[in-house]
Amino acid sequence: MVGYVAYADRFAGTLAGVGERLDYLEGLGVRYLHLMPLLRPREGENDGGYAVADDRAVRPDLGTMDDLAALARGLRGRGISLVLDLVLNHVAREHGWAERARAGDPRYRAYFHIHPDRSVPDLYERTLPEVFPDFAPGNFSWDPEADGWVWTTFNAYQWDLNWGNPDVFLEFVDLILHLANRGVEVFRLDAIAFLWKRMGTACQNEPEVHWLTRALRAAARIVAPAVAFKAEAIVSPAELMGYLGRGAHHGRVSDMAYHNSLMVGLWSSLASRDTRLLAGALRAFPPKPTNTAWGLYVRCHDDIGWAIADEDAARVGLGGPAHRHFLSDFYSGEFPGSFARGLVFQHNPYTGDRRISGSAASLAGLEAALDAGDAGRVDDAVRRLLLLHAVILGFGGVPLLYMGDELALLNDSGYADVPEHAADNRWVHRPQMDWALAARVQGEPDTPAGRVNAGLRHLIRVRRSLPHLHASVETWPLHSPDGRVLLLRRDHPLGVMVQAYNFSEQEVVLPAWELRGVLGTEAADALTGSRLGLDRPTLRLEGYRALWLVAAEGSGSVGLV
Ligand code: GLC
Repeated sequence: MVGYVAYADRFAGTLAGVGERLDYLEGLGVRYLHLMPLLRPREGENDGGYAVADDRAVRPDLGTMDDLAALARGLRGRGISLVLDLVLNHVAREHGWAERARAGDPRYRAYFHIHPDRSVPDLYERTLPEVFPDFAPGNFSWDPEADGWVWTTFNAYQWDLNWGNPDVFLEFVDLILHLANRGVEVFRLDAIAFLWKRMGTACQNEPEVHWLTRALRAAARIVAPAVAFKAEAIVSPAELMGYLGRGAHHGRVSDMAYHNSLMVGLWSSLASRDTRLLAGALRAFPPKPTNTAWGLYVRCHDDIGWAIADEDAARVGLGGPAHRHFLSDFYSGEFPGSFARGLVFQHNPYTGDRRISGSAASLAGLEAALDAGDAGRVDDAVRRLLLLHAVILGFGGVPLLYMGDELALLNDSGYADVPEHAADNRWVHRPQMDWALAARVQGEPDTPAGRVNAGLRHLIRVRRSLPHLHASVETWPLHSPDGRVLLLRRDHPLGVMVQAYNFSEQEVVLPAWELRGVLGTEAADALTGSRLGLDRPTLRLEGYRALWLVAAEGSGSVGLV
């Protein structure tokens, strides 16, 4: 499958409008469509729809539940799965449950964490990090109507649910089945890591989170066995695998999880022209359950947080905090010589964290290169974008194309003109779809957008022809003789595959024996269709070049070693 992620309104106006764009999606090769939150949110600021006021209704400007069901049918007819967010950690302050809680109904007060004074919140705060330190500091908000301090991890208007209450569990089972009946096939479990609160901890990744996911999954499977879960757990590499199931939960929790470490590692490698940190981090991952798949992405609607473990950094001689600092400098464009144009999101003066907003194209250097009118730098930026997409399309799992990246859309500098968006610069990378560009791009193969678009379509086509890329097969980093080049290896029963990615603009010369040892004396590069003799001493890899090598027949491939 190839996934596509879009805001229904920004992509096509309404749900019916999305239904009119199915030829476009099918033409791109999309088989999985994640429409960003579309259940009715609160009025005004709503965190991009992640503050749901009514989960049984669609946002009125997008359409109705019947429109959603009709769209799901249309998608299914084309073999495309509909993916929606299930916002489990919180509801809007205006949601019916929260309204009844505010009115004093004890049943609904027990759906939330409401404390009469600061004594308990203060104890929790000792170990809680802050998600939005800029615009929503602290994890509790005083609500005069509720007459208490309400747990609000994200914004004050997003009330955390009390998953210790079985009634909350039952509400969500009911909601999952309700939406599955409308045709939703995959649920993106939003902010899943935060579900369980335990005093003295960061209240993320607690063991109960996995038990709850497992129970929700078991319940869904009784009547809607095709429903799949995707965990949105933007957590440290050490915690991530828990969402696909470790130990007794093996293969019984989420079917998919975002590969946040890979995404972060891609941008880190581009900035430093050094892939050793990424390779080391990937090497440290245990194998995932074979019935699960990674959600692979270059960009999404959120900011990029530099989730690089200090141990991973230390392994390649880097200091974790210093490298994270460098990446923030680099992608905000402050670092001398940086190609990137991004914005700092949520600077936290206590931890030094500065997350980054920006579209893939602007972060990869296209915006600055176009402004400078520098054809060479434009070329580099295009190659960077295709390189990153080659990695996610070659990794095994479900690559998630983020709307507009197929057209190399730049930052939307006018994002702040919408008053509800002005304070949240993540909107800089949530642009309107450019349909005029989409209509002409295939006829303009020499423009940056045309090159990215053609390159992406080519990657998708080649990917489809390679059973080696099946999601159940692990991708392992091979030792790379040159840190600028990432070497990945996949051992499929059909034959071994080796991928090489040059993360620098320079040509790299590699000793061929590294690859000969795995692939034999001759390989075929699936991306160019050409044969590559490996019985020579060296191999040249031009700047930002990707190779997808499979052993050529009769080449004496050694397969598993
Ligand atoms: C997830 C969403 C993000 C949102 C947060 C709170 O992380 O991706 O956009 O702000 O949850 O719902």
